Amino acid sequence: MSKDWTEIYRPHSLSQLVGNPKAVEDIAAWADSWERSVPSKRALVLMGPPGIGKTSAALALAEERGWGVVEINASDQRNGEILRQIALRGSYSNTFSDNGEYLSVNTGGRKLIILDEADCLFGNEDRGAVPVIVELIKKTLQPVILIVNDFYALSKKSNSIRTQTKQVRFYPPRNNQIVAVLSSIARDQGLSFDREALNIIAENAKGDVRAAIRDFQSLALGRDHLSVKDVMHISARNVEADMYELMDVILRGNDPEVARKVIARVHETPETILLWLDENMPYEYRQAADLERGYERLSRADIYLGRVSKRQYYGFWSYANEMMSFALNEARRGRPARGEKFRFPSYLLKMSRSKASRKMKSGLAAKIAEYCHTSISRAYQEILPYLSWSMRNNPTLCRALTQTLELDAEELAYLLDEAVDSEVVKAPLTQQTSETLDVGSNTDPKTQKNLFDF
Ligand SMILES: Nc1ncnc2c1ncn2[C@@H]1O[C@H](COP(=O)(O)OP(=O)(O)OP(=O)(O)O)[C@@H](O)[C@H]1O
Ligand SMILES: [Mg+2]
Repeated sequence: MSKDWTEIYRPHSLSQLVGNPKAVEDIAAWADSWERSVPSKRALVLMGPPGIGKTSAALALAEERGWGVVEINASDQRNGEILRQIALRGSYSNTFSDNGEYLSVNTGGRKLIILDEADCLFGNEDRGAVPVIVELIKKTLQPVILIVNDFYALSKKSNSIRTQTKQVRFYPPRNNQIVAVLSSIARDQGLSFDREALNIIAENAKGDVRAAIRDFQSLALGRDHLSVKDVMHISARNVEADMYELMDVILRGNDPEVARKVIARVHETPETILLWLDENMPYEYRQAADLERGYERLSRADIYLGRVSKRQYYGFWSYANEMMSFALNEARRGRPARGEKFRFPSYLLKMSRSKASRKMKSGLAAKIAEYCHTSISRAYQEILPYLSWSMRNNPTLCRALTQTLELDAEELAYLLDEAVDSEVVKAPLTQQTSETLDVGSNTDPKTQKNLFDF
């Protein structure tokens, strides 16, 4: 578990890379031309954003062709001078060792020279590197691959770098391709998972496979199953801003495709999104027909979400999202009402305001449930309200229950709907009574009758 999965699962052949089929094809064709003779474009430039397989492609190529590798990168502290020694001297000859030592043609095979992070090699402090590299790409007798994030910055430093190299662009793989990488790692690690959990990790990585694998490794640590709940927190960032953007594209936007894309980027559960839409749609959809269509679609989303929780099948999330984004946007035919700020769902506000009292109620319900040998929800719904009423109207029962249920001042205050330091609350707590309620032992109908006699 502790070894870096991005290293363990680095692709060993070009076919193991996900995404970028065109790039892979171009790289293989360029390598073929090297196998035949020295091609006109002796150097290849791999460009694209971080973590999507550029270095992996170069290493995989060498591995599958049986070529040796001389890797030079900016963080190596190897400067222009070393480059000159390794790259130029070696590349002029037919062959050289991994350390840059010259070898005779008979002892060494072909060597792939990889200048990783080449845009940094061309950094200001090492101007000497530019002419060396230009010379290298023009004259090398060994295949050279330059890897860069920002080709534009690099090509500004020298025209030849643009004209004398073959450029291959890498694009971020799609989310389902990243999910494929993650699930094959999971299989290898003997880790089971909810598919939606991997979707969330992939989405969150925004095309960066390395980042996805790293997140995955840290989330999987110490687990043998990875569920949606385990990964939700990685996407907890700037929720409100995202939510306002989402409301805007769904309720006011003119392109359902955009709504569909943005909903995939919002890091909130579909249940919360549904509450936001429910709150805001009536203010936005002014025509009755639009509103009717809109609520019809929102209610379908709600049905899907119900099925998610009933069947624990998170695949329905995507149906719900489809209803809430594409379909809901498409439901509006009239012009949207612009300008007002979107409202935070009142249901969530109410829930957060009533959090303390709900907590108190469930604590009391748990006590009553235990005492009455019934379920907490039954105690909550059916017993608690009557008990509260009875205690307010019958001081004897109130005292007995306070003692039997071992109520504290706050619980009593809540049940009696009085202040904690009021006399009505203090009295039953201080006065001892011999009348306790015990369903099991107090079978005397006389005492029971007395207690409930008010
Ligand atoms: N296309 C891919 N297919 C499979 N695994 C990948 C792919 N891209 C990246 N990875 C995984 O991510 C790790 C890092 O990828 P890699 O070093 O090739 O990225 P890079 O594009 O060179 O990024 P950087 O620009 O930061 O150097 C790899 O070891 C591999 O585990
Ligand atoms: Mg790299």
